[in-house]
Amino acid sequence: MNIRKEKTPSQSKIEMTQLVLPNDTNLLNNLLGGRMLHWIDIAGALAASKHSNSKVATVAIERVEFREPINVGDMVILFATLTYAGNTSMDIKVDVYSENLETGIRIKTNKAYLTFVALDHQEKPKTVPLLIPETPSEISEYKLSEDKRIERKRKKAR
Ligand SMILES: CC(C)(COP(=O)(O)OP(=O)(O)OC[C@H]1O[C@@H](n2cnc3c(N)ncnc32)[C@H](O)[C@@H]1OP(=O)(O)O)[C@@H](O)C(=O)NCCC(=O)NCCS
Repeated sequence: MNIRKEKTPSQSKIEMTQLVLPNDTNLLNNLLGGRMLHWIDIAGALAASKHSNSKVATVAIERVEFREPINVGDMVILFATLTYAGNTSMDIKVDVYSENLETGIRIKTNKAYLTFVALDHQEKPKTVPLLIPETPSEISEYKLSEDKRIERKRKKAR
């Protein structure tokens, strides 16, 4: 019998830093939404790959809101953390902050939830380690992800 490995969210947590260059901006000289989605996807994929020690594919990105513009020259910091591991899929939360390098002021600009599937060498879904949440916020995110999965399966079954 195969015993599934266990990992905690902190074992795969990712911090990714980017600098907003002119080529990353829209006509308003702010960070382009598509570039932000790209960075969110990469940060999420890194956390999922680290948890599963494999290549991963994005299967879903939940609604992402853009509440604050991010200016050219700002630093963008993305924190990606696993919130749930299913059989072959993993839910990741990405928190995004922007920091003005002249003032040092850092603000939270985005939050996104994504789902990735771990792939084996034949690019078929493969089993991932179980996720063991430790802190109160990890436990609460785990329950939230679990509830969302139950709801998604309920809707699919209709
Ligand atoms: C990832 C992929 C290989 C999965 O193959 P599949 O045959 O759909 O596999 P399954 O139906 O067994 O689903 C695998 C897991 O993904 C989950 N999943 C599938 N669709 C999902 C969705 N829309 N939202 C969240 N999870 C989803 C399933 O619940 C399952 O999770 P579990 O094993 O933890 O229970 C396939 O969907 C694929 O290649 N998708 C394209 C990926 C891609 O190109 N991404 C980049 C987009 S630009």
